[in-house]
Amino acid sequence: MTEFATRVEQVSISGIREVFEAADEDAINLGLGQPDFPTPAHARRGAIEAIESGRSDAYTSNKGTPQLREAIAAKYDRDYGLEIDSEDVIATAGGSEALHLALEAHVDPGEEVIFPDPGFVSYDALTHIASGTPKPVGLRDDLTLDPAAVEDAITEETAAFIVNSPANPTGAVQSKADMQEFARIADEHDVLCLSDEVYEHIVFDAEHHSPLEFAETDNVVVVSACSKTYSMTGWRLGWVVGSNRRIERMLRVHQYGQACASAPAQYAAEAALTGPQEPVREMVETFEQRRDLVLDGLTDAGLEVPTPEGAFYAMPKVPEGWCDEVLERGVVVVPGEAFGSNGEGYARLSYATGTEELKEALEIMDAATTAVR
Ligand SMILES: Cc1ncc(COP(=O)(O)O)c(C=O)c1O
Repeated sequence: MTEFATRVEQVSISGIREVFEAADEDAINLGLGQPDFPTPAHARRGAIEAIESGRSDAYTSNKGTPQLREAIAAKYDRDYGLEIDSEDVIATAGGSEALHLALEAHVDPGEEVIFPDPGFVSYDALTHIASGTPKPVGLRDDLTLDPAAVEDAITEETAAFIVNSPANPTGAVQSKADMQEFARIADEHDVLCLSDEVYEHIVFDAEHHSPLEFAETDNVVVVSACSKTYSMTGWRLGWVVGSNRRIERMLRVHQYGQACASAPAQYAAEAALTGPQEPVREMVETFEQRRDLVLDGLTDAGLEVPTPEGAFYAMPKVPEGWCDEVLERGVVVVPGEAFGSNGEGYARLSYATGTEELKEALEIMDAATTAVR
């Protein structure tokens, strides 16, 4: 009889899906992790033209088309003044594959991976899939990750630590000083800092910094994607950036697991990155207005909620039974424990939902809060 691999048996299907399955069809869904905007027209056109001309019929280079990798490298120069060689970029099937490549290439069986708790659900699962040992660390009261907590968690067995800013599920943004510290920790302890920056452009009052700006060694690897910035979650196009020796190792995993990212998606991504950035600014402005609306609504309902400075999530502290009560009244939110044991007592709300629906959901949450208190 065949047996399943232990590393796969350790992974369960995301708790987020369970909530969706329990919800009514006409429920207001504040559980979604994707922008409710269309992909910019110029990005779609990039793919359409590539398909119609036959340019996307064949495999591309394993790392991705040279033009897309140039566009990604140019983006890092434009945004952060970072000089990236386009040979040190792999285009991937979304940020998800990029995270997978980075962990597969750097984690030996049993080695530890440190990540935020509550944190994005893939960190724990991909650590198991790489046969590593998850080391979740708790957050500060403002839901940011304390570099000191990461440094304390480092042992002889640590392969990597993951930083995610702006963060899912909290919306928290790490300060420049924190990012400098993460870079120092990666340098001094000689461990990999895997920086997940898929929400890098969705920031409000704060400014996004990458540890890559500050590291003196090549111990920082950055993951990002078109998914959130350009509302392209369905296109499956992300990337990983790192030093050449690291990229060459990650390429071994990518080459055999994926061959190359989907060619039409690569052309769409190139157009998204090199075309007008106005749609991104408009989307971020809308998210900021909704963030304010949600923050006011939750505070008025008497809930404590750290101010999210990026992404499109808020994470209030909620009384026991609150998520079920809200769900019964027709609003889908994700219980905090879906993102790690320290998420207990919190809920994640996504405001990637129309403003009118949000207002309605806030009224329902207000009534639900009164009911469970
Ligand atoms: C923090 C974080 N990283 C990575 C991803 C994966 O993004 P993609 O859709 O590009 O695979 C997500 C998606 O929700 C995310 O929230």
